Amino acid sequence: MKATALAPSNIAFIKYWGRIDEILRLPTNSSISMNLSGMHTVTTVEFSVKYERDDVEIDWQKNDRETERIVDHLDRIRNLAKINDRARVVSRNNFPSSTGLSSSASGFAALTVSASKAAGLELPEKKLSVLARLASGSACRSIPDGFVEWEKGIDGESSYAFSLYASKWWQIADIVVIVSQNKKDMPTTQGQKLAGTSPFFKTRLNLINEKIKECKSAIAERSFLAFGNLIEKEALEMHAIMLTSDPPLIYWQPATLQMMKLVEKWRKEGLQVYFTVNTGQDIHLICKKDDVERVMVKLRSLDIVRNIIINYPAKGTRLVKKHLF
Ligand code: PMV
Repeated sequence: MKATALAPSNIAFIKYWGRIDEILRLPTNSSISMNLSGMHTVTTVEFSVKYERDDVEIDWQKNDRETERIVDHLDRIRNLAKINDRARVVSRNNFPSSTGLSSSASGFAALTVSASKAAGLELPEKKLSVLARLASGSACRSIPDGFVEWEKGIDGESSYAFSLYASKWWQIADIVVIVSQNKKDMPTTQGQKLAGTSPFFKTRLNLINEKIKECKSAIAERSFLAFGNLIEKEALEMHAIMLTSDPPLIYWQPATLQMMKLVEKWRKEGLQVYFTVNTGQDIHLICKKDDVERVMVKLRSLDIVRNIIINYPAKGTRLVKKHLF
């Protein structure tokens, strides 16, 4: 059978950085995110006896860097469905991959939902989130709708993501500013393994539950200033862990830092905009929907900006009818 799924990427406001179990991908802390309307992956999977081996095509290319991880995930789904057929997988991202824009989140969420359906499984959302997590931690947050919490859990089955609020809850925007399309040197999955080597990691974990509580109340109350302040500090804290890891991880480029300084300046001028950054040079500017045009005017005048993607809160991963092959 053939099935196709569309999955949004997501941006974490409270970040997942560090794991207590590498195989099960259990995170050291819970995290909070929002699905992104303008950045998604569409994936079609077909299992059939006609295929001699798994055949994977991502963005019109055979992608060796990712194939092994995808085949491992197909194996998990084959085991659950008790089938042996090989698969053809075709996947398209509408945004650059491997540059720190969380294409693994949307990619593995889309693969999980399309492949399990194609294998004949009917899985509830919780199980799909658990399954997606095994392939890429942040992918479990792209399964449910809107504003999402990933509860770290205590074992493989209790670590999954669920919706806190549907996408319509709060009209905020995430303007992704692409400053370079260079692929990152250190893939996130490898970088995560170094979190515990930072002398500040324990301090982060001591304070994280309080921060998660504050983040959830800022979203509940739609309190933008409290929210913006908190998420910007959180992004810098995660990068403080990366910068002080052994070996250190420096994911920023000069243009990333320039953007941070500009955001600080625009705020002093009265524009309510904050930033967050993941494992790449590109930066996410968070503002209220009503302020998007004002931020865009500022961005259009900058020569460091290569591309811009405007996102609003989005629904989670869903099956779609139009197949890619
Ligand atoms: O799921 P991974 O292994 O791609 O890790 C995601 C890590 C960050 O994007 C930096 C933080 C997060 O919570 O999304």
